[in-house]
Amino acid sequence: MKPFLKWAGNKYKIVDKIKALLPPGDRLVEPFVGSGAVFLNTNYPHYLLTDANADLITLYQHLQAEGEAFIDYCRTLFTPENNNKDRYYALRDEFNSTTDLRRKSAVFLYMNKHGYNGLCRYNMQGGFNVPFGRYKRPYFPQAEMRHFAQKARHATFQHSNFVATMAACQPGDVLYCDPPYVPLSQTANFTSYSANGFGWTEQQELAQQAANLAQRGIPVIISNHDTAEVRQAYNTATIESFEVRRYISCNGDKRDKAAELLALFS
Ligand SMILES: C[S@@+](CC[C@H](N)C(=O)[O-])C[C@H]1O[C@@H](n2cnc3c(N)ncnc32)[C@H](O)[C@@H]1O
Repeated sequence: MKPFLKWAGNKYKIVDKIKALLPPGDRLVEPFVGSGAVFLNTNYPHYLLTDANADLITLYQHLQAEGEAFIDYCRTLFTPENNNKDRYYALRDEFNSTTDLRRKSAVFLYMNKHGYNGLCRYNMQGGFNVPFGRYKRPYFPQAEMRHFAQKARHATFQHSNFVATMAACQPGDVLYCDPPYVPLSQTANFTSYSANGFGWTEQQELAQQAANLAQRGIPVIISNHDTAEVRQAYNTATIESFEVRRYISCNGDKRDKAAELLALFS
């Protein structure tokens, strides 16, 4: 089943490759859950699903707590009258100022489907700043939300940094880590490059934590771009490399292939 959110870097297309590597366990932990493609397509008895994006986790918590009532509430925003620039920017302003978390979560979903490319981006003040997307008829993901709510009965959602999530893991857990990708571009200053606060220091910290957990008998899988630096950082892991077709956004919408890898620390 597809995730109900559009999410940059989502792993829906390679979920079978990831599943083939995931060992059995009592609980699957995803410190970078994003849209939850792996959670939605696996069957562990329990899940701990965390992310540094508070708006994402709050939305999941409302869907989990209320199910159908929350789905109905979200649907009220998906009207032809709300599918225009002025309404989009008015709702975006409301999102950025309201303290009503239920409303904020519904508008977050609305913006995910009505905003440009389903992007999730914030300005320096923390305000959501993605422009209107101009879709003819934005899709309301009812079936996908229902499926998510069903699966969420076995899940705990937490807003947290990956370091805290990994520190809380116990034997019996299996981890799937999908951090923001390391940059592929040769021109980016690799060691200082940081997208959304996730730079090379964090990539190394993640690799170190994974190696530590594996030593305690807790297996960890990390996905990332396949680069020399990444392979070096994951040198204690078993690596599986493959090519994925993606839009590379430097020169318009050119489709290209990028090599990715899955690293198993066990
Ligand atoms: C590539 S996406 C994960 C995609 C997910 N596997 C899916 O299928 O949709 C990376 C996620 O890491 C989260 N993130 C970024 N920095 C983080 C941090 N320091 N700790 C935890 N999560 C973080 C982002 O909010 C984003 O949801």
